[in-house]
Amino acid sequence: MDQEGVNNSRRRFLAWTTTGVGAIGAGFTAVPFLNYWNPSARAQAAGAPVEQDVSKLQAGQVINMEWRGKPIIVYRRSERHLASLAELEGQLRDPQSQVDQQPDYCRNQYRSISPEIGVLVAICTHLGCSPLYRPELGSVSADWPGGFFCPCHGSKFDVAGRVFKGVPAPTNLEVPPHWFPNENTLIVGEHQEGGAA
Ligand code: FES
Repeated sequence: MDQEGVNNSRRRFLAWTTTGVGAIGAGFTAVPFLNYWNPSARAQAAGAPVEQDVSKLQAGQVINMEWRGKPIIVYRRSERHLASLAELEGQLRDPQSQVDQQPDYCRNQYRSISPEIGVLVAICTHLGCSPLYRPELGSVSADWPGGFFCPCHGSKFDVAGRVFKGVPAPTNLEVPPHWFPNENTLIVGEHQEGGAA
């Protein structure tokens, strides 16, 4: 186990309590999460942008949010994750994000504004299950590089939410509109240039 894995084990919590956690059984390491951010009922009803403090988010941790009724996962990638992105391109169905699953400013290798901080809609593009964040090497299969695994039918995505070839999910995971007004704050549901999504 690498150092990241050791640290994660010490902070072990269940990241998801919804779909598939019981079904996948032993062999998976739970991922630590910081909190579940709950916007006000008024904000939810209006579909307003939601703000999140990301200053304490460490590599391998996740923050679960909700925007317009959709589960949003926010996570910090490690140096190893960042290095793996280019290496994986030959195994991916849409490595350059040609399919319109992200704002234009996220049509890059990371599929996000920040290389370190990823922001994704946590809904599998096959039939809508909740993919599980599995950042540790080998935690899904022997050659697993870290990423997202859907327990319903086995779809796999890398740490940028890019779908692997040969799985049921047809497209990359969706990236919601987002921006960072400062290095500690994330806003989901709004573009930097202004205006709600
Ligand atoms: S819903 Fe995710 S693989 Fe089918």
